[in-house]
Amino acid sequence: ATDEERVGNVKRQLAKLFESSLRAIVPDESDVEPLIAPCTGKFGDYQCNNAMGLWSKIKGKGTEFRGPPSVGQAIMKNLPPSEIVESCSVAGPGFVNVVLSKSWIAKTIQNMLRDGIETWAPQLEVKRAVVDFSSPNIAKEMHVGHLRSTIIGDALARMLEFSNVDVLRRNHVGDWGTQFGMLIEFLFENYPNLEDVSETAIGDLQAFYKASKQRFDDDAAFKLRAQQAVVKLQGGESEYRKAWSKICEISRKEFDKVYQRLGVKLEEKGESFYNPYIPGVIKELSELGLVEESEGARVIFIEGANIPLIVVKSDGGFNYASTDLTALWYRLNEEKAEWIVYVTDVGQQQHFDMFFKAAKRAGWLPADDSKYPKASHVGFGLVLGEDGKRFRTRSSEVVRLVDLLDEAKSRSKTALIERGKAKEWTEQELEQTAEAVGYGAVKYADLKNNRLTNYTFDFDQMLSDKGNTAVYLLYAHARICSIIRKSGKDIDELKKAGVIVLDHAGERELGLHLLQFSEVVEEAGTNLLPNVLCEYLYNLSEIFTKKFYSNCQVVGSAEETSRLLLCEATAIVMRKCFYLLGIEPVYKI
Ligand code: ARG
Repeated sequence: ATDEERVGNVKRQLAKLFESSLRAIVPDESDVEPLIAPCTGKFGDYQCNNAMGLWSKIKGKGTEFRGPPSVGQAIMKNLPPSEIVESCSVAGPGFVNVVLSKSWIAKTIQNMLRDGIETWAPQLEVKRAVVDFSSPNIAKEMHVGHLRSTIIGDALARMLEFSNVDVLRRNHVGDWGTQFGMLIEFLFENYPNLEDVSETAIGDLQAFYKASKQRFDDDAAFKLRAQQAVVKLQGGESEYRKAWSKICEISRKEFDKVYQRLGVKLEEKGESFYNPYIPGVIKELSELGLVEESEGARVIFIEGANIPLIVVKSDGGFNYASTDLTALWYRLNEEKAEWIVYVTDVGQQQHFDMFFKAAKRAGWLPADDSKYPKASHVGFGLVLGEDGKRFRTRSSEVVRLVDLLDEAKSRSKTALIERGKAKEWTEQELEQTAEAVGYGAVKYADLKNNRLTNYTFDFDQMLSDKGNTAVYLLYAHARICSIIRKSGKDIDELKKAGVIVLDHAGERELGLHLLQFSEVVEEAGTNLLPNVLCEYLYNLSEIFTKKFYSNCQVVGSAEETSRLLLCEATAIVMRKCFYLLGIEPVYKI
């Protein structure tokens, strides 16, 4: 197959086609960008929306055109012949509707089946990106906010990776705050010999944190020692460094358990990593004239912000912002990243806005946000409990992630047992499916909403097998696999030589939707919106069931080969969607 044929992105292919026809209308205007969108009406599959914009550029300049509709007619007439297009028409104020060729849709799917779904991967302009996500704080429990960051960040990283971007998955853990003074002092007090500190001894780091905080608040002498401990740690005293490492190590083990269960890969470069680079970066910013003195602190004033960005505190210490500015500098200069994406709750929006602006003032980032290198904050809303308030346990503690995952798994296992699977399956199959479905449900419930909205954590809803849930989608996929299995045909053989025909309206609609996978991943990835992919996946499953499968008999029909191939293509695209969302597929239900 030529590269041309491999490209699954319909929008781009049409844009290429329309570009030449637009140029012919405005020959002196070299930058006409084709505006191509899927049609909402029933007059076509895609439309070109340039007529009105072009008209406003050329009207009154002695043009032969009489208005947008005639510009639309000309766009249509100039369109070079192509195997992609079946027919065109002009509607309303010059929209050019395109009906795609059935045989081209069929051929493109056949090619994908033969050459693999990777041939439908988007090609992004960016070559290397940092995705900064999860990023919990040492010695504090990971909470649902970190769960959201982990799930969303992982999905974004997967989409960019699939789009051939080299992604640095960064865990920017909070391992360098003043809280370490009290933690280390408390550790010394309770374990005079560091060797005795085992994971089990301070395994419950949250309790350890609380107890040391209590001590800090109650005892002035302890408080003083804790404050001195911070200085000693930052000065590099070896006993303090050792104690610090110990605490980090124990925390890290806890975090890793969660990542392992969620199937998330991350590379830790915590706040402490950037610490040695901070003075140099502050110096650079000072030399650029950005850093000013204000009430004893050193700050950067930001246009439009009512408070300045503090980069050196009045006691001479560094803070969250100094670390983030330095990390940004490092990622741009040392790691050569062109796109740096940060996934945190929207509560941190202002922090990101401010240090991005500072970076623009420093000339590290271009003022124009559409240019690279680029920094983007991916904000998300709160997780709410069923009472509509911030998600807490009954005793109003922070919900522990491991408990959540345990419960999701055990509930989905119970549901499988209720459906008689304990008798049908091996214990291992039961466990694996319960995990895939349980964790998949938690992830999908998070990803399917626009990330900026708050969402309600509701086990019953997310584990329901009806509606827009992971359970429903995973089962739909398993059902498709079983159609193929039960046909008794060797699907790999069919893939090599089988021909797809899309004569039935249900077949055509399914085929067209399959073809839109590539542009949807591109949109979800470049706009940093995993919910766009979820919506696509849900629609795919709906179209498969309601438009295709309920109207088109597969096994035993005259079109069996073609229809089995459509089933296989649907299963492949669904699995790729699951993969990009971090969800493990299941093959049996
Ligand atoms: N540790 C922070 C928190 O728990 C998140 C860090 C996000 N990343 C960053 N580069 N600031 O809120």
